[in-house]
Amino acid sequence: MLKKRIAVLVSGGGTNLQALIDAQKDGRLTSGEIVLVISNRSKAYALERARQNGIDAVFVSKKEAGSLEGFDRAICAVLDEYRIDLVILAGFLTITGEYFPVRYRDRIINIHPALIPAFCGKGFYGLHVHEAALEYGVKLTGATVHFVNEIPDGGAIILQKAIPVLDDDTPETLQQRVMRECEWQLLPQAAELFCAGRLKIEGRHVKILPESEHVMEENQ
Ligand code: GAR
Repeated sequence: MLKKRIAVLVSGGGTNLQALIDAQKDGRLTSGEIVLVISNRSKAYALERARQNGIDAVFVSKKEAGSLEGFDRAICAVLDEYRIDLVILAGFLTITGEYFPVRYRDRIINIHPALIPAFCGKGFYGLHVHEAALEYGVKLTGATVHFVNEIPDGGAIILQKAIPVLDDDTPETLQQRVMRECEWQLLPQAAELFCAGRLKIEGRHVKILPESEHVMEENQ
């Protein structure tokens, strides 16, 4: 089967991008291939990670685009050029307009460092999410991979994983554990499921098809 072409959108350090690259190398991500990394920040270390791994890395400037729709169109132009099948938002910490999620509907997934619908939406990104979880006093937190629609963090949920919050957690220690124990596992897993054609969207619900069922559907 032809591998799906994956683009990863980033803004910062890119540890989630690294988790995807590692999964590709050790055979957990086999149905898709990362062919492009786009950043809205020219100095994002994630761009460097991409280049070091032989992946094309492109900076798209929001400022130069002039408007949200202009920014969306600039991103879509690069995605179109690379004939991308799956777009992964992996720490893409900037707001887009509606054009991009509508154009690439059901083909964009995002990793969020909390158990959606808790601590999500506008203003909840990066360390802020963990500060909010600690302030609220939740006993469990985690990460969510979901499809992206026009509502921030509002699309159908694909995978979630929870871990306990510890009494002596700081936003930084919690962020590290959520990344290591949840995000870096869930994102490659969701990418593989998507690329293998095993995700079936039914409204707000995403069904994960067993491997055998998927093969049967394909052969019918
Ligand atoms: C990750 O924790 C990711 O879940 C989060 O930003 C971090 C990026 O780290 N994303 C959001 O908060 C999106 N709302 P990374 O650049 O090292 O992957």
